[in-house]
Amino acid sequence: MGMLDGIRCIDELELAGQKVFIRVDFNVPLDKKTRAITDDERIRAALPTVKHAVEAGAKVILASHLGRPKGKPAPEFGMEPVGARLAELTGYEVFVPDDCVGEAAKKVVQDLRDRQVVLLENLRFHAEEEKNDDAFAKELASLCTVYVNDAFGAAHRAHASVEALPRLMQTRAMGFLMKSEVSNLSKVLETPEQPFVAVLGGAKVTDKIGVIESLLGKCSAICIGGAMANTLLAAKGHDMKASLVEKDFLAAARTLLEKARDKGIEIVLPSDVVVASSTEATSGTTVSVGSVPDGTLALDIGAASLDAFKKHVLGAKTVFWNGPMGLFENPAFSAGTSGMARALAEAPGFTVVGGGDSAAALRQAGDGLEAKISFVSTGGGAALELLEGQKLPGVEALRMPRG
Ligand code: 3PG
Repeated sequence: MGMLDGIRCIDELELAGQKVFIRVDFNVPLDKKTRAITDDERIRAALPTVKHAVEAGAKVILASHLGRPKGKPAPEFGMEPVGARLAELTGYEVFVPDDCVGEAAKKVVQDLRDRQVVLLENLRFHAEEEKNDDAFAKELASLCTVYVNDAFGAAHRAHASVEALPRLMQTRAMGFLMKSEVSNLSKVLETPEQPFVAVLGGAKVTDKIGVIESLLGKCSAICIGGAMANTLLAAKGHDMKASLVEKDFLAAARTLLEKARDKGIEIVLPSDVVVASSTEATSGTTVSVGSVPDGTLALDIGAASLDAFKKHVLGAKTVFWNGPMGLFENPAFSAGTSGMARALAEAPGFTVVGGGDSAAALRQAGDGLEAKISFVSTGGGAALELLEGQKLPGVEALRMPRG
């Protein structure tokens, strides 16, 4: 069965006059001090679905979480800045009621006129959202007649607005973003053209173990950078000195490397790294992985490692990249990550980037690199879980029963 079988898309529904609840993932990064949105890609990515519903004559109710407010209202996680950006991007009037449920929200929805939309207040201001609570889902259901999920980034969360709510709704469908995410990522999972190379980075191997195990059955090579490479290098006997190493995972890392070797899958690790004595350093030194100096930590892959990774990427027919190659937020250690972004943009194969940090690095590198990637996912955890072969609750809840 295909991943989208039995799931309707918003363009198959009759929307005129309907109250359409669209679950979006507007969990965008905000500047801690000013609350200005630092990357609005997730809002832009949902616009085709939002505009389609508005233009079809629906009353549109948008709902999202923002950050992790732990089940209580918290002003720093309010949806107001997101509503303002949405208004700028669409020209619609955007109302943000004080609460996502209750009479006030109902009244705003009822009174909506042409080119006006509602963006409900943060769903996670209610602890019931993350508990996938039925009564809370019923309250959300009372706002609408049609349910659409376009929040791919949250599809791995069995939360009320993602899982319980659609199951209560007779008319439910995916939005255009959800459709494009699942079809592009399932291409990588189900029918990758070989050679298929994965590039993985980020802080911890333990976060990515599921996806590595799953990729071992599909890839010809996996290039690993970022702090997670330190653990694998340590498992191979290198002394990574002050670098971040998951010591409890060394034995499992050895088993993983053996498994890859037995399957004939190449795990390509850095041969050189950029080290410094602190994450705040303004410059680093490139050393071989066999000679990391005392008191220093590896904060980026070196130029020779980038070259080796690049050769794999350029020679592949399918490439999947998730996770930065180093501490790219600090410009002194961003060369590995921006170099990888450029390599993917140059690669002739089908290239997919998943994960907030890698996508942000692509945009940060500029030069229109993002447009040269076959598909950039808006989902981090969701993209990884899908590639692990897990069923995503938010996708499953949209499927109509057979017969
Ligand atoms: C994400 O940013 O990956 C999604 O919006 C999910 O957010 P969460 O990890 O807080 O559930």
